[in-house]
Amino acid sequence: MNLLLRSSGRRVGFDPTQVGWRIGTSKVPAGVGLWQPWDRTAGTIGPQGSGKTLDILTPALLQAPGAALVTLTKADDLLLTLTARQARGPVAVLDPFGAAPGLPELIWDPVDGCVDATVAEKRAKAFCAGTIQGGDDNTSAARFYAAEAAKVIQCYLHAAALAGYTLHHVLEWAANPRTATLPAEILRVHPMAEPNWAGLLAGAVNNPDDRTAGNTKSTVDQALALFATRDRRNRCIPTKNRPAVDIADLIRRNGTVYLLGREDPYVSAAPLMTAVAEHVLDTALRLANESGFGRLCPPMLACLDELPSTAPLPTLATRMANERALGISFIWASQTWRQLVRVMGEQQARAVKDLTNSLIIFGGSKDTTFNREISDLLGTRRVTRRNHQHGPRGSVSTHGEDTPVIRPEELRELPARTALVVAENGKPIIATLHRAIDGKPGRQLLTQQAEAREQITPAVGAGAGVGVVEQTALAHATARNLGLTN
Ligand SMILES: Nc1ncnc2c1ncn2[C@@H]1O[C@H](COP(=O)(O)OP(=O)(O)O)[C@@H](O)[C@H]1O
Ligand SMILES: [Mg+2]
Repeated sequence: MNLLLRSSGRRVGFDPTQVGWRIGTSKVPAGVGLWQPWDRTAGTIGPQGSGKTLDILTPALLQAPGAALVTLTKADDLLLTLTARQARGPVAVLDPFGAAPGLPELIWDPVDGCVDATVAEKRAKAFCAGTIQGGDDNTSAARFYAAEAAKVIQCYLHAAALAGYTLHHVLEWAANPRTATLPAEILRVHPMAEPNWAGLLAGAVNNPDDRTAGNTKSTVDQALALFATRDRRNRCIPTKNRPAVDIADLIRRNGTVYLLGREDPYVSAAPLMTAVAEHVLDTALRLANESGFGRLCPPMLACLDELPSTAPLPTLATRMANERALGISFIWASQTWRQLVRVMGEQQARAVKDLTNSLIIFGGSKDTTFNREISDLLGTRRVTRRNHQHGPRGSVSTHGEDTPVIRPEELRELPARTALVVAENGKPIIATLHRAIDGKPGRQLLTQQAEAREQITPAVGAGAGVGVVEQTALAHATARNLGLTN
């Protein structure tokens, strides 16, 4: 830990901002500052509007001294920290839905690096992990098809990288898996191809059971669905004029990668965002290992808001276990515990929760099972009760009684700007939090947000500035010219 030294060399104190971020202030005992070291992980659970983003993730991000990977679902949350993060380093925004156009774009090529079969495999798995959504009723089947689809995508990515094809070709192959013979040919003939992957691809694509093959194909489609429109696809195909962002350089310069998804049951950005997040974290890991300090210095923060719907990283538990010591810090947020379980599976979700050093829980949740589980986790305390016997021979007796430290209903009733903090092996703490938009610094942040909003330009692309009526008329005229109408 760094001690502040005066020029005289005298020790004058310890500056906690150098080693961690401030969560809030404890209520009991009153007024003790709660600090989370960067080499510890945090997770927060609370219903929508409870304060996860403004009271926990935003303050942490604003205090982060180094690079950051940020996932979020609201453009407003991005704009709130944009100016502060731009002051720290370069910013790149992956915005597949065009919610914040005009900001520096993250151009990333999913095929890049897939000459290495392990990269192709990891990337495909990340894409497919994002297909398991909270709404799926049958998640074990979804998980099976995610694994089958990953086989197909990993083979396509590897084949494309080996022979110099782009994402366009990968999408073409994925659209017609049974007739696209080129990827299998590349995998069979190319000396640098991973042995046996031609067979792996054939097995997944030509499954004799039509239903399995059909479901695998539709999962592949789902994983790549975001690329269905040309504009989004082009963001993943670097050109001379729009080169790919150098992620390693961005991390070295304390930059920020924002991945802006949205909660949308129709087109999820989760497959792409999960794959990008994995790539950014792998790059950070490589830099940490190459660093003379054996870690990233200053540390990098992975600030994963709305984890289940943005980037449910399949490697999160492993990373949280290993990488916090390498200077990569993790904070995640989820609206409910159940949402996390549905997307990650019970085992993974529990591993993530167990590896979370500080669990920060907001009130307002109607998930009684979860509230009870947290109440059980915190156990009981022994309180002394006095019994007074009245009457001529009145007496006083005492006995001990075990009562829950916090009852499930008390958890639900926690007021706003307050949370239960369960940190490592310490006693549970009710904390008062500081909302990022409160007070003078908050007003400044809101001003910066309003200014940043003005940087946003209306979406450019096909049909920009043209109404639906005009677009439809143009489409019909073109169809007539081509002889497509009678
Ligand atoms: N610009 C704003 N001005 C005032 N209140 C806001 C603003 N933005 C959000 N809030 C309020 O702050 C609370 C916490 O929001 P937020 O941290 O985004 O919740 P969560 O991330 O848990 O969904 C919400 O109740 C919301 O209504
Ligand atoms: Mg939020």
